[in-house]
Parts: sequence; C-alpha cells; structure tokens
Amino acid sequence: MRVTIFGTGYVGLVTGTCLAEVGNDVVCVDIDAEKIARLERGEIPIYEPGLEPLVRANRASGHLRFTTDAAEAVAHAQLIFIAVGTPPDEDGSADLSHVLAVARTVGRTLNRYAVVVNKSTVPVGTADSVRATITAELVARGSEVTFDVVSNPEFLKEGDAVQDCLRPDRIIIGADSARAVEMLKALYAPFNRNHERIVLMDVRSAELTKYAANAMLATKISFMNEIANIAEQVGADVELVRRGIGSDPRIGYHFIYPGAGYGGSCFPKDVKALEYTARQHGHEPRLLAAVEAVNAAQKRKLFALVERHFGADLSGRTIALWGLAFKPNTDDMREAPSRTLLEQLWQAGAKVRAYDPEAGAETARLYGERDDLVLCGQYAALEGADALVIVTEWKAFRSPDFERIRSQLKQPVVFDGRNIFEPKAVEEAGLAYYGIGRGRSVKAPAA
Ligand code: UDX
Repeated sequence: MRVTIFGTGYVGLVTGTCLAEVGNDVVCVDIDAEKIARLERGEIPIYEPGLEPLVRANRASGHLRFTTDAAEAVAHAQLIFIAVGTPPDEDGSADLSHVLAVARTVGRTLNRYAVVVNKSTVPVGTADSVRATITAELVARGSEVTFDVVSNPEFLKEGDAVQDCLRPDRIIIGADSARAVEMLKALYAPFNRNHERIVLMDVRSAELTKYAANAMLATKISFMNEIANIAEQVGADVELVRRGIGSDPRIGYHFIYPGAGYGGSCFPKDVKALEYTARQHGHEPRLLAAVEAVNAAQKRKLFALVERHFGADLSGRTIALWGLAFKPNTDDMREAPSRTLLEQLWQAGAKVRAYDPEAGAETARLYGERDDLVLCGQYAALEGADALVIVTEWKAFRSPDFERIRSQLKQPVVFDGRNIFEPKAVEEAGLAYYGIGRGRSVKAPAA
C-alpha cells in the first residue's frame, strides 16, 4: 500500500521503516529539512539498535523515501500517518499544535480519499479535532474529497522499537468507518500472523488505551519504589519481595523493578497529560497524582543516599556516575533520573565524572562545558572519585572489576541505583553498598 508518515522522530521513523520492510511504499515527511537531508545521506538521527540497516535496505529497494514536500507526500498516500510530537504544555496538557498543523496540511492538499491514522499519543477527543481541522480546510477550498480519521496508538519501547514494531503484542485500531478498518487490517496483515493481535474499538477508547497502558506501567514502578522505601525502613530486601510477588501470574515479573524512578519521553508526560484530561472532565485522579509524586521523590533517592553517607556539603567531593541515559540501549536523556542527580550533586558542591555507553554526547549537548562535569570512560570515571553511583543498568556494568573499583575510589562505597549487584559480593570486595530498598542502611525499628 502507499503510506505517508508525517514526523521522522522515534515513532515515525521506526513505523515507516517497518511498514516499508513488509513491502509497502512509504514516504516519510518532516518539516525539518536538516533532518531529512541527514536521513537522505543514510544517517539515523537516533540511537536505536537494528534501525540503521533496515533503513538502508529499504531505501535501496525504493520502498522508503524521505522528503520535505508535504503536498507530494499527501498525493502519494492511501494512508497518512500522523507521528509528530505532543510535548507537554506548562500545565501538563499535551501540546497538539504539531498534530493539528499536519491536519491543516492534509486538508489543504488532499485530493482523493485517504485514511488519516493518528499514531501520536494524543488526549481523548483529538481524532475529532483532527477531523474538524481537515474538514475546515477542505470546505475553505470547496473540496468534496472524503477521508476517515483512525486512532492507532503506538507501544514501542526505545531500545526494542524495531522488534516491537515488527512483532507487536497488540494492534489497537480505533475507528468508526468500515472502509478504514479494512485498509488498516490489510496494512497490518503481515504483522498479524499466527494469532489475532488486532483489537478493534471506537476512536475514544483507542485514544484512552494508550494512556491507560503507560499509566498502568508507571503505577507498577511507583508502587514498587514505594515498597522499596518501606523495605529499607523495616530491614527487608525488596529484591526478594519482588521475586516473591512476581511469581504470582496476576502480578507478573515485568515492570516491578525498583530503581531511581522512571524517565523517558512517555511515562512522565503521559501520566501528567492523563491527569490533566481527568481533571478537565471533572474527575480528580488521586492515584495518578500519587504515582507522579512517588516518582518525583524517587528521582531524588540516590542523592539522599549519597547525602546520608557523606553529609549535605559535598564541596571538594567527586562522584563517579555510571549511566546517564534514562534506561539502557538508548542515548535518550529526556526526564532521565541522572539529570536530577547531576543537578543535586552540583548544587551540593560536588564534581561529577560520568560514563555512559551512548548518552555522553547528549549529556554534553545538554549541559555544555563546565568545570564540575567530566565525561570519560567507564573506569576513568573512578579516578579521583570519592564514590561510585550506578544510575542506569547497562549490561556492561553488571559484572565489573570490583577490585579495580575499590582500589581506584578514594572511599570504598557504591550506590547501586538499579539493584544490579548482590550486596554480599560488593561487600566481600571491600566496598560499602547502598541499594534501593535493600534494608541495609537503616535498622529495623524495635518491635
Ligand atoms: C514506554 C512504554 O514501555 C512503551 O510501551 C510506550 O510506547 C512508551 O513508553 P520507554 O519510555 O521506551 O517505553 O521505556 P520503558 O522501557 O517502558 O521504561 C520507562 C522507564 O521506567 C525507564 O526509566 C525505566 O528505567 C523505568 N523502569 C521500567 C523502572 O524503573 N522499573 C521497571 O520495572 C521498568
């Protein structure tokens, strides 16, 4: 089928590439000429395992093209995907200006029936706004072209995005037109083998499904961080508790890892946007507000542990950080817990030496040249440092040379913000250990 994707960000680029991979003719369009020029040269603007060879192969076969020419891209398409950003406004609501700008472009240029597919994460009711915006443009130029608007939210995880796209666990289609449903079913047929993955529903339910999924996952994480903080106080080990509850299939092992708080481009933004929507419609979202508050506190947890060990004044101290990206296998620093920690450490007068396998350049871009930040190699980060803090659980950090860590650090202490080490192994290597909710640094209250 002939597909056009508006937006060559994370979702647009991965979706476009995967749709090209199964034989569709895909045009990706973006207003950012620089980005399109880079993609034309075969450069991928994001770090995503497996994406680059797939883009290269599909450009070579002619199934995938990039352009800034929106009118040509609209003329090409039977299906027009909107995959542009919905950044949070100051009040937490999702900013729809990019989505509605695409709708206006479509309305100005559409010359035959097409299905407009909304992939951006958008508040309930946005499909109606997109439909109204396109209609207004068509009416203004006296066009009688028809179209449908469908909600087809995205569930890609950064770092696994290509696999998630090629092997989705579900395909949500929110539509009120049989014609549009048939076209989407045909488009997704190659991804819908072996068992039925398509869940058909109305547009508003599809829009809410995306927020409900992310809010549920964020809730699991905040819940577990709360349990970790209780475990710390009562002298229990949350890692044992995690395994104990995860074995119940109703709970499951996924997304119950306590840590330094959730970050990234989705959870923080989507929880806030859902809260906003709820309030806008007269419902006070008490649970969502708590999920967010617990997470904000958890992002400050690592600093609290450092402070507990060294005291509030860290001037003259150097802290080594392993991991900066909001999670492994990405260079994304959006809402990363490392940023909260960096800023708190600097505030307290500490210097930081930091290593991340991918996010070094992005960190340098965010913070620029400064005396209190050195970006360097994994073990170089330990030179002259008082302590080591693990902020992101990259695989390369899991079995480090503890002897080397101990001999390089001025003070033998490790703060493990992702519970990737066994406290006993670290302690046997002669290092003090602080984890998240491991019941070690706080004594159980007297019975
Ligand atoms: C998420 C959703 O998983 C995806 O379906 C949606 O489309 C976009 O948002 P992503 O932001 O890429 O994807 O990352 P994810 O792997 O879900 O992790 C989010 C954050 O939660 C990370 O900061 C991670 O470290 C944290 N996390 C995750 C935990 O702290 N504990 C866990 O158990 C799981």
